[in-house]
Amino acid sequence: MDNFPFARRTNWPQETNALNKAIEDLRKRGIDILDLTASNPTSCGFLYPEGMLSALNSLDNLHYHPDACGMKSSRQAVAEYYARQKLPVSSNDIILTASTSEAYSFLMRLLVNPGEKILVPKPSYPLFQFLLEINDVNFDQYPLVYDGQWRLDCQALERLVDSKTRAIILVNPNNPTGSYIAQAELNFLNELCRKHQMSIISDEVFFEYSLYPSDAVSCAGNQAVLTFVLGGLSKTLGLPQMKCAWILASGPQLVLQESLSRLEIIADTYLSVNTPVQNALGAWLGYAPGIQGQIMSRVQENSQWLQAQLNERAPSISLLSLQGGWCATLRIPAVKSEEEWVLEFLKEDHVLVYPGYFFDFDREAYIILSLLPQAPIFQEAVGRILQRLAKI
Ligand SMILES: Cc1ncc(COP(=O)(O)O)c(C=O)c1O
Repeated sequence: MDNFPFARRTNWPQETNALNKAIEDLRKRGIDILDLTASNPTSCGFLYPEGMLSALNSLDNLHYHPDACGMKSSRQAVAEYYARQKLPVSSNDIILTASTSEAYSFLMRLLVNPGEKILVPKPSYPLFQFLLEINDVNFDQYPLVYDGQWRLDCQALERLVDSKTRAIILVNPNNPTGSYIAQAELNFLNELCRKHQMSIISDEVFFEYSLYPSDAVSCAGNQAVLTFVLGGLSKTLGLPQMKCAWILASGPQLVLQESLSRLEIIADTYLSVNTPVQNALGAWLGYAPGIQGQIMSRVQENSQWLQAQLNERAPSISLLSLQGGWCATLRIPAVKSEEEWVLEFLKEDHVLVYPGYFFDFDREAYIILSLLPQAPIFQEAVGRILQRLAKI
C-alpha cells in the first residue's frame, strides 16, 4: 500500500490526535463526556413537529421527474421562504444541492481553474481546507480582527487579491465568531470584486440565528457583482440528515445567466437532491419559525447564563461579542496552550470544547463552546470549566 499512487490531494495526515485519543480512552472506560462541541441539532432535545414526516408520505414520491436545478415547485418554495424574510429572490436563480458542501464544490468547479485561488476568512469553518483542496483550489486566508467586535480587515484582504483570485468566501454570520458582514464591508467587497472580476460566495446557513435581526445584512439578491448565497436545511430547519441545501445566484444579468446555464450542467451531472425531500420542502419551510424559535431561545438562554456566570465568578475570562450563530468564544488565560487546556478539561472534568486553533484563531488562548446543548448539560459543563479556571 505504501507506494500506491493515490492522488496527492488526498495525502492528509491521518494519525489520531491527542484530543481524539483522550475521547476514545474516556469512552472505553465508560465515562460520560459533557459535549460542548455538539452542533447536531437533532441530538440537542429540540421538538420537531410530527407533521414533518407526513409530508414525506406522498404518492408523488414514486415518480421521478429529474430537473437539474431542482424541481420548479421546490425552488419556488425556497424563493417564498426568502420573500417572507423580505429578501426577494427569483426561483429561476435558485439551484438545489444535497448540502452546502456540495454547493461549494459546484461553485469551485464553476469559478476556479487549478492553480487559481479563493479567499476565505480566518478564523472560520475548518472544513474549507478540505473543500478547497479536494477541488484543487488554492486559498489564502483573510483576517477577521477583534476589537470588542469582529470586523473584516479590508486592507489585509485587498493585499491578498491578485490576478489569480476568483472569489471571496464570506461566512455570514461566521462560524464560530457569530459575526455578520456590515453594509460598509459589503460595499467595499462589491467594489473590489467588480474591479478584479471576482465573485462573492456568502455562506448564510446561520443567517436566521441573529441576536439583532434588524442589523443583519444578507448578500441574497446582491446585484453589484456575481454573488452566490448558500443556505440549507441543516441549519434553517435543524435537519442536516435531510440533505438539502441551495445556492441563490444574483448579479449583473449577462454573467448571471451564463453562470446559471453552466451550473445547470454541473448539477445535471449529479442530480443529487432526492425527490421526497424536494416534494416536502414547501411544507417543511413552513415549520421554520417554530424550529428556529426553539434554537434561538436555547442560544439566548445559554449565552445569557454564560455571561452572568462570567460576571459573577470569572471576570478575567471574556465572552467575545456575539451577533448570532450557535457558538460562544471564550478568551481564557494563556498560561497554558489551548491544547493543554482542552485536554485538561476533557481528562479531568470530562468536558469537551473546541480549541481556538481548530478554527484558525491566530492567537491563544480561546475555547469555543456550542450553545445548543440543553441548559442542565451546558450549565454543568461550564460550571466545571470555570471551577478549573478559578484554580490558576
Ligand atoms: C459555516 C458552515 N457552512 C456550512 C455548514 C454545513 O452545511 P451542510 O450540512 O449543508 O453541508 C456548516 C456546518 O456546521 C457550517 O458551519
